[in-house]
Amino acid sequence: MKRLIIFILTFLLCFIGLFINKNLQAKITGPCSNCHTMHNSQNGEPMAYNNSTTPYRALTRGDCVACHTGTNPNDENIPKVYSTSQPSYTFGDASNRATLAGGNFYWVTTDDTTGHNVKGIANVDSDLGTVPPGYNSSYAEDADRPATWNSTYQLSCAGAYGCHGDPSKGTDDFAAISGAHHKNVDCNGTNCDGSYVYSSYRFLLGVKGFEDTPSTTGSSFGWELNPDTTHHNGYYAVDDPNDSDTDYNHGSINWLCAECHGNFHGSNAGSGCSPWLRHPTDYDMNNVATKEYGNYPNIALFNGTMGVSAVHDYFADVPVGNTAGTLKSTVLSSAGDAIVLCLSCHRAHGSPYADLLRWDYSACTAGSQNANCGCFACHTNK
Ligand code: HEC
Ligand code: HEC
Ligand code: HEC
Ligand code: HEC
Ligand code: HEC
Repeated sequence: MKRLIIFILTFLLCFIGLFINKNLQAKITGPCSNCHTMHNSQNGEPMAYNNSTTPYRALTRGDCVACHTGTNPNDENIPKVYSTSQPSYTFGDASNRATLAGGNFYWVTTDDTTGHNVKGIANVDSDLGTVPPGYNSSYAEDADRPATWNSTYQLSCAGAYGCHGDPSKGTDDFAAISGAHHKNVDCNGTNCDGSYVYSSYRFLLGVKGFEDTPSTTGSSFGWELNPDTTHHNGYYAVDDPNDSDTDYNHGSINWLCAECHGNFHGSNAGSGCSPWLRHPTDYDMNNVATKEYGNYPNIALFNGTMGVSAVHDYFADVPVGNTAGTLKSTVLSSAGDAIVLCLSCHRAHGSPYADLLRWDYSACTAGSQNANCGCFACHTNK
């Protein structure tokens, strides 16, 4: 009897232990030695993935670019954002796509205009140089970025001159992101308020939202590898096209872009209504749903693509944001659920097309609507 009780107690303790462990367990799994090296030396040989004898920060076996280079999906469960050979990509068709939500840095290594020229992947952009077009220092200061962009620094993955991590931590990518990998929170629309890098959408400090996660019915790899109406990221946004440095909205991905491209966003973009001076972002299409926008995503063109089958179905290749920062499968059903984003038109990392656009802009011709142009998802009668 005693033995039985001890057995049951032990069993219960193990069970509770497992449960707690599972709840506390961060996203990173696997042997430390998969990713770390204590001295970058094993049998006298370097342990860095690229065989470099110089060790990397945080005792890792490579830098951001090294770990995030490769193809999707992969057994290591690492989101790969740079592929060394051309990944498949067709606008509006996720069935044969190897790129994630941000697109891919592959193309920028062949053509400067197709991506962000990130240090360690591509050279400095031959047209734009290192300074972001539309840079507005007041947005930058709000975000703890350098008051003036020091043009000696090329854009990097993270830090003051990068997109991920904490920009106030200086120019070291690892310092900017320190601790985030092991603590990473799967943002589900309510658990990420952006206070910390690890509890921000995709380690973008301050940004809120919903992160596409692996599913049993759709893609088995997260990060929007094969999105459809029910499997995709959820972007937090606000209905405030007059958003400026004095009333900027921490939390939206548009604001993140505006940290470096402030003039393309905010009050200096016009009066906040049609006719516009620059294309609106942070503008809710519910405001103009009686116009052509009420027919998003243009069933005549996009029926059958990426799960779209009816008007107001979310079209993952022309995404819109919402004020709850959550996953919406249908939009234009209540105020604040169909907000124009920078990402409605752009990819964050790169695409096959000029200006990191999601589709080929030269396919956009008024009067001859076609499914190769995403403008028609919203401008349904042009
Ligand atoms: C799948 C890859 C991976 C594995 C496995 C891994 N780490 Fe890490 N770890 C990282 C990366 C990437 C960083 C640096 C970036 C960061 O801090 O977010 C890091 C940073 C750290 C840091 C410094 C930041 C912090 O979170 O405190 C410590 C300490 C650390 N790892 C310990 C470990 C130990 C101990 C193990 C094994 C039990 C381990 N790691 C396994 C990827 C990994
Ligand atoms: C040792 C390999 C390794 C290194 C070095 C590394 N990463 Fe990662 N990274 C990973 C792994 C593994 C994941 C997946 C973690 C997860 O699923 O939570 C990841 C995930 C991410 C994500 C997605 C987070 C999310 O919410 O889905 C971002 C962004 C990221 N890394 C950026 C960086 C940056 C920036 C650096 C350089 C400072 C870096 N990584 C260095 C292995 C690495
Ligand atoms: C940390 C600063 C920074 C952030 C944040 C940032 N960018 Fe950029 N962006 C740059 C720099 C620097 C350039 C010019 C050099 C280059 O092309 O990489 C640039 C260039 C661009 C270009 C023109 C590319 C070309 O070669 O013609 C587009 C489009 C763009 N960014 C869109 C975005 C969008 C959309 C976001 C938000 C998802 C964003 N950027 C966020 C720094 C940034
Ligand atoms: C996610 C939806 C969406 C996408 C994609 C989109 N637009 Fe728009 N666009 C809008 C909304 C909403 C307005 C504001 C309409 C209003 O205020 O009446 C707008 C306004 C405009 C205007 C100014 C109209 C005015 O009244 O001043 C032009 C021009 C325009 N868009 C062109 C384009 C082009 C070209 C593309 C493709 C590169 C594009 N749009 C993609 C939603 C979108
Ligand atoms: C309606 C689609 C659309 C939206 C929304 C949009 N862009 Fe663009 N963007 C374009 C197009 C198309 C171009 C190509 C140049 C042009 O037409 O002005 C472009 C060009 C750019 C460039 C390159 C400028 C240069 O000098 O080369 C940057 C940077 C940029 N966009 C950033 C942003 C940011 C930041 C946002 C959100 C605040 C945003 N875009 C929202 C369609 C869009």
